[in-house]
Amino acid sequence: MITYLPETPDQHGRAIETLFDATFGPGHFAKTAERVREFSVSLPDITRVGIQDGKLVAVCRVWPILIGGTPVLFYGPIAVSPELQGEGIGQAVTEESLRAGEAAGHQFACLIGAPVYFERMGFEVVARGQLKMPGPQDMKRVMLRRLAASSETPFPAGDVTFPLDAMQAEATQRAYLRRARLAK
Ligand SMILES: CC(C)(COP(=O)(O)OP(=O)(O)OC[C@H]1O[C@@H](n2cnc3c(N)ncnc32)[C@H](O)[C@@H]1OP(=O)(O)O)[C@@H](O)C(=O)NCCC(=O)NCCS
Repeated sequence: MITYLPETPDQHGRAIETLFDATFGPGHFAKTAERVREFSVSLPDITRVGIQDGKLVAVCRVWPILIGGTPVLFYGPIAVSPELQGEGIGQAVTEESLRAGEAAGHQFACLIGAPVYFERMGFEVVARGQLKMPGPQDMKRVMLRRLAASSETPFPAGDVTFPLDAMQAEATQRAYLRRARLAK
């Protein structure tokens, strides 16, 4: 059985980095979607981890971003231990963190991923020209979903930016990753 919990950074940080290395490979920091972590600081209360027999086997990380100045939660990376993939855990950990975002009153979720997979969880591919990502991006994979927002509330539009000063966020992320790696 898998238990889904909020992230406790001191307890889970190292295992999350190990899981990212195992699922995305050691070069995962180059991925565009991953670059959000250089400019934002994740939200451990909304992030969910999956624990099986005391081992961290899944994660859906969540970050604050802004779209045209509107606060939005960015979901990802999402990862499941290779030996447990295809059993519904990726969907479960994502849905748990979507519920957490909605319960906390956040209005919208954004992610970059395979539409065929994330449409099942209520995400829609953004309309052409609706968002401007900070780097090159295949816009057919950029998706939005309402959380606490009502179905009549239009999706936000505009530039994707980050709520923290970039220098401050980068310094925080570097310190976090250094801690995670030192703890290995
Ligand atoms: C992507 C990932 C999180 C999905 O988790 P999972 O537990 O394996 O997936 P689930 O069991 O919830 O769902 C399985 C379904 O999703 C589909 N699926 C999984 N990854 C997919 C992808 N990248 N693109 C399209 N479909 C995908 C499977 O084909 C399967 O489809 P089916 O139900 O029609 O058979 C997991 O495979 C993983 O960690 N992959 C490596 C990291 C990654 O690429 N993350 C992606 C987003 S950041």
